[in-house]
Amino acid sequence: MRLRRSKGGRGKLEFADAGVNGEPLLVVEDLHTSFRTGRGTVHAVDGVSLTVGRGQTLGIVGESGSGKTVLARSIMGLLPAQDVIKSGTVHFAGHELTAMTPEELRQVWGAELSMIFQDPMTALNPVKRIGRQITETLRLHLNMDRSEADATAVELLRSVGIPSPEVRVRWYPFQLSGGMRQRVMIAIALACAPRLVMADEPTTGLDVTVQAQILDLLRELQRERHMAVILVTHDLGVVATRADDIVVMYAGRIVEQAPAHTLFNDTHMPYTRALMDSIPRLADPSGMRLHAIAGRPPDLIHPPKGCRFSPRCPYVRDKCRESEPPLRTAGSRDHLFACWFPLVNGVPTAPSGRVEARPAPVSPAPRPVPDSFADAVPPDRAPPGDAAVNPEAGVQSP
Ligand SMILES: Nc1ncnc2c1ncn2[C@@H]1O[C@H](COP(=O)(O)OP(=O)(O)OP(=O)(O)O)[C@@H](O)[C@H]1O
Ligand code: SF4
Ligand SMILES: [Mg+2]
Repeated sequence: MRLRRSKGGRGKLEFADAGVNGEPLLVVEDLHTSFRTGRGTVHAVDGVSLTVGRGQTLGIVGESGSGKTVLARSIMGLLPAQDVIKSGTVHFAGHELTAMTPEELRQVWGAELSMIFQDPMTALNPVKRIGRQITETLRLHLNMDRSEADATAVELLRSVGIPSPEVRVRWYPFQLSGGMRQRVMIAIALACAPRLVMADEPTTGLDVTVQAQILDLLRELQRERHMAVILVTHDLGVVATRADDIVVMYAGRIVEQAPAHTLFNDTHMPYTRALMDSIPRLADPSGMRLHAIAGRPPDLIHPPKGCRFSPRCPYVRDKCRESEPPLRTAGSRDHLFACWFPLVNGVPTAPSGRVEARPAPVSPAPRPVPDSFADAVPPDRAPPGDAAVNPEAGVQSP
């Protein structure tokens, strides 16, 4: 179905067709978000910068508590006003979201920038019919009259694969299964043809078959409408084949960022490697223990000195505990990582900058990334001439 996009008007923000000429749709610069609590200040997002192009998919990955949701909400401007300290800028389609009034933000949410939340049961209003929840958005942003909005709601439900949408449009959220509720959330998020959709763990809690269906649906609709998507997940496997670029977060910071193909084939950060190793695989022998990342994520009130991953890193050295590695570029400008002794072909570099003959991990060495991961990245995402990494040249010296 073809959807209308919100038009500017008196007192309405005008959105240029940003991102069309190659400039990014979303530019986040040095974003910090902290919460004042009784125990101290929680530094949940600590200096994050990223960009998203028109129609692009960015995956944001990290363990529970790494700051993914706070980052997503900070970008959207969806944080409580009290006890939150924010800094940095977010530019979206030619507008600075961080400088907008609540009234201006309300014009952007839903119409240009929308969010699919982790738990549809809490995001949907339990006492309103699902059709009504869709038509409210259509009437507010697109000025549709009641009958046009009703008809569009039915079409939207059909487009997200809800069977008998003419009947189900009158149902309440509790009458639908978890997968159906998530489809309704997608219908609401896409109702006004936004330029960017933020999907925060859109399939957590759903079984794997429904998970794949929902993610495939989102990709299909994204291609149809040329929307950008930020897919937030704790599961690297989910974004392996779905994201153009992947950002890996640890303790509120970006620790590695690269196009998906590069990230899986030329992983530099031991934490990224540990996340990959923790994904269960069909090829693993039965009865094999799952690979867990030893230790726990750090306290964000008193993060460890130096590299925040150092208490858990199998390759930690004295330098890692003393100073924090900056985010720097690898061989290509679009591959960033924060590690003093990055992995090259799975082997950490020595203090001299050369690749060590033998890694000396404190805990068992990570498993090699199986071919299936490399194969999982479609060839159209593979950078041209992506030759094997030159271990000496692939990493720039700090
Ligand atoms: N309102 C708040 N007040 C205080 N601390 C908060 C608040 N919201 C989030 N935090 C803290 O910020 C950190 C990041 O939380 P966030 O919800 O972004 O993690 P996440 O990566 O999304 O985790 P998950 O995968 O479990 O959803 C956590 O330590 C969390 O406890
Ligand atoms: S800087 Fe050191 S502790 Fe941190 S990830 Fe790299 S090797 Fe591990
Ligand atoms: Mg979260």
